[in-house]
Amino acid sequence: MEFVDVLLMIVVGIWVFVPAMLPNSNAALIGGHLPVDFGKSWRGVRILGDGKTWRGFIGGALSGVAIGVLMVWISTLFGSENHWGFGPSWADNIGILFCLSFGALICDMLGSFVKRRIGIERGKKAPLLDQFDYVVGAFLLLGIFYPGWVYSTYIEGYHIIALIVLLLFVYVSHRVANYIGYWMGIKENPW
Ligand code: CTP
Ligand code: MG
Repeated sequence: MEFVDVLLMIVVGIWVFVPAMLPNSNAALIGGHLPVDFGKSWRGVRILGDGKTWRGFIGGALSGVAIGVLMVWISTLFGSENHWGFGPSWADNIGILFCLSFGALICDMLGSFVKRRIGIERGKKAPLLDQFDYVVGAFLLLGIFYPGWVYSTYIEGYHIIALIVLLLFVYVSHRVANYIGYWMGIKENPW
């Protein structure tokens, strides 16, 4: 096992996770109008809140799938049989992309559900939950539908290093992305 091999595992681990990372920020860009909870409350508190909208959810998730399809397509132009980490089968690639994107935004909503239940208002900070809810979501769906791919990409042998670096990368990139969104005026708070 050479150092470059491990480096490649790390790069692939982050690369294939991009379709899970972008739906969040894309949801912030295109979200709005009808809330996913239709404005309804449970025990006097909004189920999810105005920060989770259908347009953000569906649009954000589909944008992640679209970006992923583009990534796979580009890899084939370079003759990559393994589609730069997504695997050799287009059908599996699409399934993995749906797990990454929809899994991310489904658990982002679960995160909001938890925040409302423990009394944290929409847009207010929930350390760790805000940064990692979507990662849990993506891995949850991947673990159910593509456990073999998760194992060979993030767990087997030195691949576990790819997972550790991914989690660090997620934390740092989330902070950076939110500050950018805040400066652009599309986020109310820098978190
Ligand atoms: N967004 C959306 N639909 C989603 C997810 C996000 O419309 N399913 C948009 C909303 O405009 C939201 C913004 O993206 O305000 C930022 O997302 P996020 O930080 O997850 O939401 P918050 O407003 O912080 O709300 P919460 O406290 O519930 O996380
Ligand atoms: Mg937030």
